[in-house]
Amino acid sequence: MSHFEYRAGKLYCEGTAVESVAAQFGTPAYVYSRAAILENFDRLQRGLAKVSPLICYSVKANSNLRILNLLREAGAGFDIVSGGELERVRRVGADAGRVVYSGVGKTQQEIDAGLGAGILMFNVESSGELDLIEARARHLGKRANISLRINPDVEAHTHPYISTGEVIHKFGVPKAEAMDLYRRAAASPHLRVRGVACHIGSQILEVEPFLEALDELSHVEEALRASGIPVEFLDLGGGLGIRYADEEPLDVARLMAELTRRLEGKPYRLILEPGRALVAEAGILLARVLYVKRSEPKNFIVVDAGMNDLMRPVLYGSYHVILPVERREARKLRADVVGPLCETGDFLAQDREMADVVPGDLIAIMTVGAYGFVLTSNYNSRPRPAEVMVSGERAELIRPRERMEDLMAGEAAE
Ligand code: LLP
Repeated sequence: MSHFEYRAGKLYCEGTAVESVAAQFGTPAYVYSRAAILENFDRLQRGLAKVSPLICYSVKANSNLRILNLLREAGAGFDIVSGGELERVRRVGADAGRVVYSGVGKTQQEIDAGLGAGILMFNVESSGELDLIEARARHLGKRANISLRINPDVEAHTHPYISTGEVIHKFGVPKAEAMDLYRRAAASPHLRVRGVACHIGSQILEVEPFLEALDELSHVEEALRASGIPVEFLDLGGGLGIRYADEEPLDVARLMAELTRRLEGKPYRLILEPGRALVAEAGILLARVLYVKRSEPKNFIVVDAGMNDLMRPVLYGSYHVILPVERREARKLRADVVGPLCETGDFLAQDREMADVVPGDLIAIMTVGAYGFVLTSNYNSRPRPAEVMVSGERAELIRPRERMEDLMAGEAAE
């Protein structure tokens, strides 16, 4: 069920009127539904219960400490891609044995931090990285847990910027090289082979690419077992798509049933790294209308949130439903919804049939809980927005709006 709905013409997040959040914390603000996040997590956990998967929330989607802690308490592990994300999951008391570390450019310091923490595994993306991890483990007197991120050469049919699993992409190790690298790793006293991993892209709406990728991972696992290198984990990555507009959503129930059918009784455990599927629908960006510019041939609704607050529309041409926080009579206005920044790319919606809002009205940009706040910047010296977590009738500030001092922290005129 959606945790954002109208009651008597006013938009609510769970039991809280969204306008009261704006009154209390100002705009622009990200507002999250706690129940929505938990429901999304439980759906995966329950749907895959027969294979008891390890669901490693992909921290990059939304890394607010409160959200990480909520998911940790619910039983999630974490997928991280930087030393900063490692620090975040440590701050919320994550069990390092449930943390996987992906990314093509891990630095020596980051590798050392992962080794120090004792993470479940580094998803290694090149032979150079494997060498460095081995060298650092030797130097630190440790044994590094690793899997190889295989590039399975599967088409994810998604936006080219977030498609990752084909041979033309920078990610992962080509299938043909994997066995050699695994043999090398298995022979090293400083490396422990634990899994086989992949991640084929994001916002994937079809079941088949996931199953094709799983087949590829299974082939590698079988070959490894035959060579006396059994693994404990098959990490299928993230990428589960959601509905932003009227697209046909991913059939999550079918995906879970197919995964269960293929994996039940296997001697290894499934890892998933969902980000978007857990948090996207749980978040809105709340903004206030500043001006309505009516002109030929275009109308503009100028609001107090811009591309620095939400990058997705200009970065990926992404579509987000925009709702008036107070629903009035059905008059419509066709307009671009734009922010205050000095860039033509500063839009949240283009040529959109909008409610006929007036200055002072609040709007909600929907489905921005994933890759919303984490992609914000201070461009045009704009403080980052506040983040608020709603639980029932309670709204709590989980990150204050930045202040002028924050904007200039660490700088000096001379
Ligand atoms: N695992 C790895 C290794 C990844 O690179 C990603 C996302 C995920 C898991 C989580 O994918 P998800 O379940 O959220 O699809 N900024 C873009 C999305 C970039 C995704 C990057 N990698 C957007 O706003 O659509």
